[in-house]
Amino acid sequence: MWEGTLRSATGRDYPVRRGIPRFVPEDSYAHNFGLQWNRFRREQLDTEQGGALSRKRFESETGWSHSLAGKWVLDAGCGAGRFAEVAASYGARLVAVDISSAVDATAESLAKYPQVDVVQGDLLNLPIRHAAVDFAYCIGVVQHTPDRARALRSVVDAVRGGGEFAFTIYPRKPWTKLHAKYLARNVTKRLDPELLLAMLERVMPSLFAVGDRLFRLPGLGRVARFASPFAVYLESERPGWSRDQRYRESLLDTLDMLAPRFDEPMTEDEVRDALAPLGPTALRFTGIAGLNVVGVR
Ligand SMILES: C[S@@+](CC[C@H](N)C(=O)[O-])C[C@H]1O[C@@H](n2cnc3c(N)ncnc32)[C@H](O)[C@@H]1O
Repeated sequence: MWEGTLRSATGRDYPVRRGIPRFVPEDSYAHNFGLQWNRFRREQLDTEQGGALSRKRFESETGWSHSLAGKWVLDAGCGAGRFAEVAASYGARLVAVDISSAVDATAESLAKYPQVDVVQGDLLNLPIRHAAVDFAYCIGVVQHTPDRARALRSVVDAVRGGGEFAFTIYPRKPWTKLHAKYLARNVTKRLDPELLLAMLERVMPSLFAVGDRLFRLPGLGRVARFASPFAVYLESERPGWSRDQRYRESLLDTLDMLAPRFDEPMTEDEVRDALAPLGPTALRFTGIAGLNVVGVR
């Protein structure tokens, strides 16, 4: 595994640790995600869990599959690499970027793909040239950055003219911020993520058992879900998964709901306004997976 220093053309040095160039300091506002994805690296990888949940999401949220073969593709905010491994399996020449030490998890998840580069860097200051890639996707990331408009523009700016991009963002509806998680987050986002995870590990077995019964009730289940600051995946949502697999993903997603420093969902108009300065960029809001938008640069 490479260790060393990467020197830029302008003479700036960046450390390379465990084979990954690091363009940002180890610690950032997103260090909770480093903990999350290194602790729960396998839970959402198709190759680990069986099935094709991530592949189906990737294809429906980007519209791409075999067209990626041999193309330069950017995964902006790769997490543990659940979508990166799908893109890599299509033969994409992938650059997977994340601001947190989640990059160590991605590198492990994608070790068998020689055409993948993993980079620790900030979307708001991407270490990638303008118009350098053919495709870029950014799934579940923008709402977790301190400047959502800049994050959107930065990813699109990395795409060449005629190239394609796709985003999935938490959608903001008038009632979104009434969800119990936003109430709980006032406290939980300030806790040390290690401590939060230790607390969740104590209470989640009971909460999961209750949610697993309550959330499946017709009508009442939806209300209970909205009023609960924790996630529970039901058998109907994860067919073929064991109870333990569903429990692990529920614990992971509860941490994902409660730990991030930033969680600001967006409206379609906000996304349109953010991308307007880039000029004529064909946008299509697909109506799937919350706020999903695809476009051509
Ligand atoms: C909810 S996770 C989603 C990960 C992955 N895209 C997925 O869907 O599984 C959000 C990820 O965005 C990353 N992130 C947040 N702000 C970022 C930034 N400014 N630059 C790069 N990555 C960022 C976090 O570190 C985290 O891994």
